[in-house]
Amino acid sequence: MADVNVTDTLKRPLRGLRISVTDRCNFRCTYCMPFDEYQWVERAEALSFAEIERLARLFVALGVGQIRLTGGEPLVRRSLPTLVAQLHAIEGLRNLSLTTNGALLAEQAGPLKAAGLDRINVSLDTLQPERFRKITQRGELQPVLEGLAAANAVGMGPIKVNAVIIRGFNDDELLDLVEFGRTHGFEMRLIEYMDVGNASGWTPDKTFSKREMLEIIHARYPVREVGRAAGSAPAVDYEFLDGKGQLGIIGSVTEPFCSSCTRARLTADGKLITCLFAETGVDLKSKMRKGASDEELQEIIRTVWIERGDRYSDLRWERLKSAAGYEPRAHKKIEMITLGG
Ligand SMILES: C[S@@+](CC[C@H](N)C(=O)[O-])C[C@H]1O[C@@H](n2cnc3c(N)ncnc32)[C@H](O)[C@@H]1O
Ligand code: SF4
Repeated sequence: MADVNVTDTLKRPLRGLRISVTDRCNFRCTYCMPFDEYQWVERAEALSFAEIERLARLFVALGVGQIRLTGGEPLVRRSLPTLVAQLHAIEGLRNLSLTTNGALLAEQAGPLKAAGLDRINVSLDTLQPERFRKITQRGELQPVLEGLAAANAVGMGPIKVNAVIIRGFNDDELLDLVEFGRTHGFEMRLIEYMDVGNASGWTPDKTFSKREMLEIIHARYPVREVGRAAGSAPAVDYEFLDGKGQLGIIGSVTEPFCSSCTRARLTADGKLITCLFAETGVDLKSKMRKGASDEELQEIIRTVWIERGDRYSDLRWERLKSAAGYEPRAHKKIEMITLGG
């Protein structure tokens, strides 16, 4: 809805929405949610598909053109293709995508595509089965590879593959991952390890920087910078000079992109969150369940956005470069698995 322009205090328009459809996950990635137990959202507190669709419509009416479904692991939410079909039908929504760990993708790729899913990102940090078990704590590599193949087979391309690069863990696989993308026609999304939430063992030295990644990649496969898709995507895209596709690098820590962040987030229990590093959100579900009208809900969303001034990654980078340094646990951030990565 190009004519709608709700902007925040830093003049950033509301354009994207990430919806966490569940905070549950079949993996326990050490960099995201390493704990077996956690204070999960009660089933009754999770938004129903009808509630998600209602809120999504209101966001689209306020200017959102892109919705991404995420979690937790979105594919563990039962009947997800039904929700995809409901969201796909929203007039004005230009793009509906999904981020998944891929473990259940082989069986769901077909129904998701048929329901109208436009694009998919599959997370895959290593091509080594043993390492895969170590980082996910519960996952196996082979089903994810099968999920990728299935998504390809049903025509979900271009498929993006997210890989978090952690110094001392999988930085030695950088070129293998790039080669994997080039061979199979997947667009790699190489992500700097960041301190989302407080559950991971992030320390600044574990972040393998975008600049370091680029140097290694460019020396083996020369690339040319293309820029950020739509000017606001987290990834900076690069195309291979030999014409074999492209990749993106997300420099969340060392090249923060707060100034162009146009994304809102909705948690599985209906909280509106305006930054990946937020401490709290605004509870839309309770208002909805107490009978708020569409107009009232829309006014709440609009006001939250207009008052938004978040620029956490910018500030973190300033602190990391300063003599005082940065203490990740000084700020009680919401876990990634809750707010929808
Ligand atoms: C939180 S997950 C949710 C969707 C799905 N479960 C998955 O893993 O793709 C979304 C993305 O966040 C990334 N992620 C999680 N923790 C991260 C961290 N500490 N730093 C950077 N990326 C992270 C994951 O690798 C994944 O690509
Ligand atoms: S939500 Fe995604 S990144 Fe986090 S533990 Fe689950 S699979 Fe891993």
